[in-house]
Amino acid sequence: MDVSQQLNSVCTSGLLHKKVSGYTKPEEIKRRGLYPYFRVIESDQDTEVIINNKKVLMFGSNSYLGLTNHPEIKKASINAINKYGCGCAGSRFLNGTLDIHLELEEQLADFVGKEAALVFSTGFQVNFGVIPALLGRSDYLILDELNHASIIEGSRLSFAKTYKYKHNDMPSLEKILQSCDATKIKLIVTEGIFSMDGDITKLDEIVALADKYDAAVMVDDAHALGVLGDYGKGSPNHFNVTKKPI
Ligand SMILES: Cc1ncc(COP(=O)(O)O)c(C=O)c1O
Repeated sequence: MDVSQQLNSVCTSGLLHKKVSGYTKPEEIKRRGLYPYFRVIESDQDTEVIINNKKVLMFGSNSYLGLTNHPEIKKASINAINKYGCGCAGSRFLNGTLDIHLELEEQLADFVGKEAALVFSTGFQVNFGVIPALLGRSDYLILDELNHASIIEGSRLSFAKTYKYKHNDMPSLEKILQSCDATKIKLIVTEGIFSMDGDITKLDEIVALADKYDAAVMVDDAHALGVLGDYGKGSPNHFNVTKKPI
């Protein structure tokens, strides 16, 4: 069954059906053997994986530190399943907070030198959840232009006035900060190590500008935690500015 056939079975509106059945690009790309998504992996996630019964090198993994396959982590996960089952049976708000969540959050906060931590199921949900929780319509959100899509999605949900500065360009960031109403909340969001280009943010300079213009700083350290700083404590530790980013 191809994508348009699958969509046939879910679309009842004539106009929507017409739109989705005309969307044939993925099938065309698949026919040319160039479709890069939803590749099925038949092995554990390591530097080499099995696809179509063939061993291939993995260049797309986020498990830089090999934690996905670490024997201690596997053992702890199995012990947790034995004790708690395969899920939390509820949201964190209601009946889904376990003692091991709190233990993990305390240890994570301690590791990065912060008062507290809150664990989300995915990185996307962090940005989608935290940014709108902090900002509203009258606030400013100031983003590096190469920030991850989840930060952009979070900004949309917040309704904050959103500006993008040129990638890692401090004069461009300062120009935006100068243009903001000094009495309003301003949050600068950057990645620690940028996901697409692999370059490092200028966090020390961002913090200096944030202090100058009374702005807050948020760092998405998805690719820097475990990589930069003492013992992999992340980009704030690497730049010796741990106190500033929220
Ligand atoms: C910088 C950054 N933030 C957030 C995410 C989203 O993380 P997740 O895939 O856990 O939702 C990614 C994904 O790679 C990312 O690169």
